[in-house]
Amino acid sequence: MAWLKGYVALVTGGGSGIGRAVIRRFLEEGALGVGVLVRNQDHVHDLHREFGDRVAVHAGDVRSYADNQMAVDLTVRRWGRLDTLVGNAGLWDYKASLERMTPEQLCDSFDELFGVNVKGYLLAAKAAGPHLRATRGSMIFTLSNSAFYAGGGGPLYVASKHAGVGLVRQLAFDFAPDVRVNAVAPGATMTPLRGLASLGKSERRLQEIDGFEDAVAAASPLKFVAQPHEHTGHFVLLASRENSRATTATVIHSDGGWEVRPLH
Ligand SMILES: NC(=O)c1ccc[n+]([C@@H]2O[C@H](COP(=O)([O-])OP(=O)(O)OC[C@H]3O[C@@H](n4cnc5c(N)ncnc54)[C@H](O)[C@@H]3O)[C@@H](O)[C@H]2O)c1
Repeated sequence: MAWLKGYVALVTGGGSGIGRAVIRRFLEEGALGVGVLVRNQDHVHDLHREFGDRVAVHAGDVRSYADNQMAVDLTVRRWGRLDTLVGNAGLWDYKASLERMTPEQLCDSFDELFGVNVKGYLLAAKAAGPHLRATRGSMIFTLSNSAFYAGGGGPLYVASKHAGVGLVRQLAFDFAPDVRVNAVAPGATMTPLRGLASLGKSERRLQEIDGFEDAVAAASPLKFVAQPHEHTGHFVLLASRENSRATTATVIHSDGGWEVRPLH
């Protein structure tokens, strides 16, 4: 089956984790090519090594409008169109506590986290919007179980992902009827998701936390922690005009049933 035959997509933060798995899956589903916006220079070579000229990679920062615009322009120049934006780049706050932060740390970490997790999504939507209107394409954002529930992060991360739900709803409203806007909300996933430089945690990686996999699996109704590829079918479904033509302003939960987790 090739649900995305001939599609052109752009994925932010696609050098690793869920974004990279989405790129792989979109190409398997027949996509013509995928533009990628990455922060880490190593990811540029790495992506070309795996996907060759089926990816066009721009190294930049999702907090910069110019970088988002350059990634969109590169993609459209290469393949002539844009069907799907996947806003995905993100940082985690490693459950940083409001009470333990200094006021300076709070201000800096808010700017860093919201700059990537919220402003980065808005800037990508702004840059991609006109091309998506032209193709009657769609936007898909990677949210989180933290878009709905407490406890999967500190107040910064949880607030940033809740903000993502508002962003999906308002953009779906604003871009209708031309562009559908949806999201996928993964639960804990084995990826190298990093912390905040402003809190000295930019080198920490989620998948390396001691006991993370066992603890989350034990708490989850489905008793496992997802691998990145296990979310990608939802992105394919939402991207496909044929298979989700009537779906906008929707968030698909891909979190092992976090809403019905055991209380103890
Ligand atoms: N891993 C989880 O448990 C989990 C759970 C729920 C939601 N998510 C969300 O999934 C998304 C992808 O994260 P992941 O878990 O695959 O981790 P990841 O670290 O593999 O992917 C995030 C990517 O974003 C990039 N990035 C970070 N800051 C950037 C910037 N300023 N400019 C450009 N790129 C930047 C990173 O380099 C990285 O490649 C994030 O939005 C995250 O919040 C992850």
